[in-house]
Amino acid sequence: MTQHVWDKSAVTRVIAELQDQPGALLPILHGIQDSLGYIPPDSVPLIASALNLSRAEVHGVITFYHYFRDTPPGKHTLHLCRAESCQSMGSASLEKYVKEKLGVGFHETTADGQFSLEPVYCLGNCACSPALTVDGEIYGRVTPQRFDEILEEARGQA
Ligand code: FES
Repeated sequence: MTQHVWDKSAVTRVIAELQDQPGALLPILHGIQDSLGYIPPDSVPLIASALNLSRAEVHGVITFYHYFRDTPPGKHTLHLCRAESCQSMGSASLEKYVKEKLGVGFHETTADGQFSLEPVYCLGNCACSPALTVDGEIYGRVTPQRFDEILEEARGQA
């Protein structure tokens, strides 16, 4: 379970566990994001020092991979499929609707902290395009109206 807070001890624990691996930077970044939900900027100097890299090198890798985030995710993470099958079934207009409805673009979080929006390239649900997931739960044949219902369902969850 993610904690979404700056937790230095969690970061130093991940670094200590992985720093002796060859090519330890990516496993460390994944480990921190798995543990905290994001890679806090304050962890960059700790990682750089442990791996004898510059802060710029560590920061460069974090920003190169869109998967990594340096801000806490929203309460819910929504992955919207942008791959071919979903595109052929109208995902571009759904994407436009979702972005307008949430008021965010990809890799952003709504102002109320409820939803983070991420792109994904095929969810293996092509027969039910266009598809998206909310916190890993998959939804198919999503229309704008269905999206509104999905949002309300997610908001209603504890
Ligand atoms: S292309 Fe969207 S689920 Fe496969």
